[in-house]
Order: sequence, then C-alpha cells, then structure tokens
Amino acid sequence: MAIKDFMTNDHRECDNLYAPLEEALNEGDFDKALELFIPFKNAMLKHFAMEEEVLFPKMEEFVGSGEGPIYVMKMEHAQIKSIIDQLGEAIENKNQDKALGLGETFMIMTQQHNMKEEQILYNMAEQLPFDKENILEEMKKVKI
Ligand SMILES: [Fe+2]
Ligand SMILES: [Fe+2]
Repeated sequence: MAIKDFMTNDHRECDNLYAPLEEALNEGDFDKALELFIPFKNAMLKHFAMEEEVLFPKMEEFVGSGEGPIYVMKMEHAQIKSIIDQLGEAIENKNQDKALGLGETFMIMTQQHNMKEEQILYNMAEQLPFDKENILEEMKKVKI
C-alpha cells in the first residue's frame, strides 16, 4: 500500500473515533465522552508520531528541514495536540460548552491540516526516492 493511501485512511479512522465523542458531548454524557476520548487521543498521537518520528525525518533527508511545509505541519501538530489536551480537561471538568467549542476548533484545524497533507505532503513523499515499503513498516511500529 502507498504511504498516501495508508495515511489518508488513518486520517479517516481518527475522524471516525472523534464522531461518537462529539455525539456524547452533544448529549452531555461525560462518562461516555471520557471513555471515547482515550482511544481518540491515542489514535491522534500515534498518527502524529508516525509522521514526526518516521515519515517527516525521512522526507527531510531529501528536502531539508528549513521552514518549509514539513515545518508548518509540525507546528500544526503542536497546536492540535494542545487543543486535544484542553478538550480532555474540559471533559474531565464536565464543561459542555467549552468541550463543544474546543471540539469544533479541533475539527476545523484537523480538516485543514489533513487536506494539506493529502493534497501536498503525501504526494511529495510518494515522489521522493526512498524505500516506501520500509518506511511504512517503520511507521506502523511507532509506539506512543
Ligand atoms: Fe500531520
Ligand atoms: Fe497526517
């Protein structure tokens, strides 16, 4: 499987873990929300780690590590991680308005981020001359 397909599919799987969490927040069911928050957060952190620990460093070997698109992606990861942490706190504090607001911010930021990766970054990765199968295997082995 191509890196682009694997990672695009992983974006969808993360979205699918977020959707029921948002539903629980809408219903004000904080016990359920807390339960759903954990696998969602872990999937997001694993996805970011696959990019930051394996894919992006490999790409940087070819394109350098200046303030280009990879740098922007890492900045956005940091912003999204901060939103996820704040969302976790809002759920623990049973603050529905805050949690829903943070959830919306999360969705907007993540959709824009994922679109940039799917339309630019992953295509760039596919065109670079490294062993895609090997990098894909390394990505799957990442632990958080
Ligand atoms: Fe990313
Ligand atoms: Fe991604």
